Amino acid sequence: MDVKKKIEKLREEIRHHDHLYYGLDKPEISDQAYDKLFRELKELEAEHPGLVTDDSPTRRLGGEPLKAFKTVTHKTPLLSIDNVNSEAELLDFDRRVREGLGKDKIEYVAELKIDGLAVSLVYKKGKFIQGSTRGDGVHGEDITQNLRTVKAIPLSIKGSEGIEVRGEVYLPYDEFVKFNEARKDRDEPIFANPRNAAAGSLRQLDPKVTAGRPLDIFVYYGIVPKLKKHYETLERLKRLGFKVNPNIRVCEGIGEAWKYIQHWEKKREGLPYEIDGIVIKVNSLAEQDKLGFTARAPRWAVAFKYPPMQATTVVEDIKVQVGRTGAITPVAHLKPVHLAGVVVKRATLHNEDEIRRKGIKIGDHVRVQRAGEVIPEVVEVIKEKRTGHEKEFVMPKSCPVCGAKVFKPEGEAIARCVNFACPAQVMGRIIHFTTREAMDMEHVGPALVDQLVTKGHIKDAADLYSLTKEEIKQLERMGDRSAQNVIDSIKAGLDRPLDRLIYALGIRMVGKRTAQLLADNFHNIAELAEASAEKLSEVREIGPKVAEAIVDFFREKENKHFIEKLKKAGVKVKGLGTGGRGLGPLKGKTFVFTGGLEHYTRPAAEELVRQLGGSSSGSVSKKTSYVVAGTDPGSKYDKAKKLGVEVLTEAEFVRLIGKK
Ligand code: IVH
Repeated sequence: MDVKKKIEKLREEIRHHDHLYYGLDKPEISDQAYDKLFRELKELEAEHPGLVTDDSPTRRLGGEPLKAFKTVTHKTPLLSIDNVNSEAELLDFDRRVREGLGKDKIEYVAELKIDGLAVSLVYKKGKFIQGSTRGDGVHGEDITQNLRTVKAIPLSIKGSEGIEVRGEVYLPYDEFVKFNEARKDRDEPIFANPRNAAAGSLRQLDPKVTAGRPLDIFVYYGIVPKLKKHYETLERLKRLGFKVNPNIRVCEGIGEAWKYIQHWEKKREGLPYEIDGIVIKVNSLAEQDKLGFTARAPRWAVAFKYPPMQATTVVEDIKVQVGRTGAITPVAHLKPVHLAGVVVKRATLHNEDEIRRKGIKIGDHVRVQRAGEVIPEVVEVIKEKRTGHEKEFVMPKSCPVCGAKVFKPEGEAIARCVNFACPAQVMGRIIHFTTREAMDMEHVGPALVDQLVTKGHIKDAADLYSLTKEEIKQLERMGDRSAQNVIDSIKAGLDRPLDRLIYALGIRMVGKRTAQLLADNFHNIAELAEASAEKLSEVREIGPKVAEAIVDFFREKENKHFIEKLKKAGVKVKGLGTGGRGLGPLKGKTFVFTGGLEHYTRPAAEELVRQLGGSSSGSVSKKTSYVVAGTDPGSKYDKAKKLGVEVLTEAEFVRLIGKK
């Protein structure tokens, strides 16, 4: 056999086994046998680079990191579906369908509604050529490179007709849990739920990062020529090598569909992935056409949404946690219970008032709920199960970490530890300082800060800047390279924009948005520190309470000392000189970005505008000063043209801001 044929045959075989393994969950050969085939193909391709094609199984990971995603316009919009929450509403949907078609009984297809991210996959001449997110339904982001790394998506299919397939990319529960645990170990922020994790994974600019995340897909819709029923489409898709959910059923009439809904409401906890409801679709494609669409959704489909998942368990204890502002938060320690695929051991109780309002006592049986979040909440106490031995929770009078007094101001919900030097507060402040939104020290995470504080290397965030590589290398699990990464991350935190520094200081009531306003209106930290409450209140959107919190912060001797230390360490404490008094070169100008930029990510471009005194917005109006249009601009471009707003190319934008 000639080499070309041999290579093709190997690819066919590997695709077949990929489909059995990833698509049908029914492998026929051992992993070793599969690896052998794969190795053989790789070797042959290495010897004959001229024969490598883009759809080869060895080429899932072909692309280089992107600077930004391109925008794609969907050929047919990806509409959403109308939701219903009760049997009555479902029957109403059925009545509308029956009236629309003039029939008594409708054949429906019932499907699980997978809670992930909707994607569209376009195939031309049997090759996967484009994959995109739903976006606003009309324009999505081109994430082809990332979708190529999802093993259950075939890179090539039989047949040469062009087809478009839609489906839901998701992260299975157990992968989600493993993935979050690994992130915790590396001190990276964890994802709240599998859906966010899947979305975050697909929006990576570097496909190698996506490839490391075990994403999966179920396809549920295909634009395939010459078929009569939706269910036939699904069967065709399955034969072509796509993964179709095995629990899909054809239902005769709405009664059967309702039974399906009730069945899965009970069974959904046993599924290895998250679903948030059931989708009911009219099976006949001719009938779908006849019913058509409203402006936002098809008239032939409806989504029955399930309520959040609940379980009952026992509150074994209520303990408090101390945050960076000294805020004391009670947390319920629960008897471990399975809920939505994960074992739940803790629930947030927010504050003392919340405990009183819900009447929660230690020893109580409670109903807990997860609405897609990692940390569940207590919904209610099951009073019938009380024995009389339950104990009232008492807020501690002193801080459980440092023993200092706990103080709860009149009229406030939150009690606080008053000791500024409390180790829990110290740690919390330092961690806050290093986070992505603050000084963004990528390789400095909670576990590292914990060690540094406990071992006495640092007392505040300013001390980070004087750490040596040798000191860091002596910590647990720190090789030369990791230590260097830590040092580099800390250095990178020397000249962040002023708004980030203000946010990093952790002033009460000053979040990211307020920090930006302050940076827009003051030249530097010194000027901000001297500002009176009256002067601060002059800034738009800053009320008297926030102004007072800022004045209080800069009055504290410890904080003054901390800022001096930051200055000495070489942290940039100046803004770009906008000063909020018309000095910023872009003061008063509003920018809207559309399409892909070559030299900046969208957030970086927006930050640049802000640093120069301008502002950015997500939508175009008559007040917009400029629309910056990158490659494949979206509808904002058209709107700008219509309203006569000036449109800049990226090059013109770069010239305008003087950064050639
Ligand atoms: S049908 C025109 N089927 O739910 C057909 N959607 O649509 C529209 N979803 O974000 C979609 N599982 O991604 C359909 N089996 C399923 C689904 C499903 C999940 C998602 C879909 C979209 C949302 C509403």
